[in-house]
Amino acid sequence: MAYTVPKLTDYSQAALERASAELISALGQETSAVKNEADWKALRDRWMARKNGVLTQINDLWLKGAPKSAKREVGQLVNSVIIPQVETAIRERHDHIKGVAILKTARANGLDAAIDAARRGAELSAALDITLPGIRRPIGAEHPVLRTSREIVAVFQKLGYSVADGPVIETDYYNFEALNFPPNHPARDTQDTLFIAGQQAKPPRERLLLRTHTSPVQIRTMEKMRPPIRIVIPGTVHRNDPPDASHSPMFHQIEGLAVDTNITFGDLKGTLDHAMKEFFGSSVKTSFRPSFFPFTEPSAEMFVSCFICGGSGRRGSDNAPCRPCKQTGWIEILGCGMVDPNVFEFVKDNGYDPKKVSGFAFGMGADRIALLKYGVEDLQLFFQGDVRFLQQFA
Ligand code: PHE
Repeated sequence: MAYTVPKLTDYSQAALERASAELISALGQETSAVKNEADWKALRDRWMARKNGVLTQINDLWLKGAPKSAKREVGQLVNSVIIPQVETAIRERHDHIKGVAILKTARANGLDAAIDAARRGAELSAALDITLPGIRRPIGAEHPVLRTSREIVAVFQKLGYSVADGPVIETDYYNFEALNFPPNHPARDTQDTLFIAGQQAKPPRERLLLRTHTSPVQIRTMEKMRPPIRIVIPGTVHRNDPPDASHSPMFHQIEGLAVDTNITFGDLKGTLDHAMKEFFGSSVKTSFRPSFFPFTEPSAEMFVSCFICGGSGRRGSDNAPCRPCKQTGWIEILGCGMVDPNVFEFVKDNGYDPKKVSGFAFGMGADRIALLKYGVEDLQLFFQGDVRFLQQFA
C-alpha cells in the first residue's frame, strides 16, 4: 500500500521519531520497486512534486501544523533529515537504473569495456555500506619444494650450521675448476651444462654458465670465512635435462660443508644419520655406498631406508611392490664425501691448509625429496603453478 502522510497530533520526541521512521521505510520500499525510467519519474513526482508531493504534504501537515513549542524541532527534522534523505534516495535510484540499463545493452553487444564502466557506475551509486566486510585476499601457502628445503635447512641450523648462498649464474672457475673437475670432464660438456652465450672471447675459467650444483658456494664461502665453518646452502641449479616426470632443467639443491681440524668420515656419517632421523623420523636407517665426485675423496652416496614401505620393499595388505624404492627398501638421498685436499689448495691462503684442516660436504635434491615425501607422481607438477595442485599443500 502506498504511503500517505499522516496528520500529526502528538509532537513528542517519540512520536516524531516513529513518524519519520515510517516515512523512511516507505521511501526505501518504494525506491527499490522502481525498475525503469517511467517508474522512476512517477516516484519522483509522487515524492517531490511541488503540488501535493509527499514532501509538500510533510511541510503542510507536520511543520505548519506544529505547536509553537515544537516548530524548531520539527523544522530541523524535516529540513536536515527528511528532505535530504528523500532527495538522495531518489537521485541514487536514478543512477542505479541508468547503470543497469547501460550494462544490459553493453552485455547484449558484448562490449567488455562498457560493461566495466557501467558496473563501476552502478556500484558507485549503490549506497555505501561501511559495515560490509572487505574482500578477503587469499594468502598463498609455501611451495612444497621450498617448504622441504626450509625444513632440511632447519635441521642443520639446530646443529649450529649457518646458511650461505651464492649466484645462480656462475663462472667455470667456481662451478668446475676450483672443485677439481679436470678440463675435459663430461659434466663440463654442453650435454649437461647450460652455458651463457657469447663467452668465447673470455679466458675459459671466467666463462659464465648456470651453476649445475650448489657446490661452487663451498669455494665462495671458504674464500670469505676462515675455518672452522659449518654451512648449509639452499639454492636453484640448472642442467640441460629435458623435463619429464623425474627431471627438470631447473631444480633445487641443499649443500652442506663442515671444515675444522680433525673432521672425519665418522663425523660425516653421524651428522647425516642424525639429520635424516630428524627429517624423516627416528626409525629410518642410513646406508653409505662408495661413489665418486671430483671434489670429495672418499665419496659416497647415502641411502635412507624407504620411509614409505619401512624398508621391506612391499606395501599394504596386498603386499604390493613399493614403487618409490623400486622394491629395494632403500632410497638414494644425497652425494657426500670428505673434501678433497685439491679443493683446499684453491683456498689455502685463507686458512685452509690441507695438512691442517679436513672437512666433509654433501649435496641433495630438495625436489626429489619433496616428491617422495608427498607422494607426488610427476615432478613437473611442482613447476606448472597449477593452483589446484598447490592448494593441496595449503
Ligand atoms: N654437487 C653434487 C651433485 O650435484 C653433490 C655433492 C655435494 C656431492 C657435495 C658431494 C659433496 O651431484
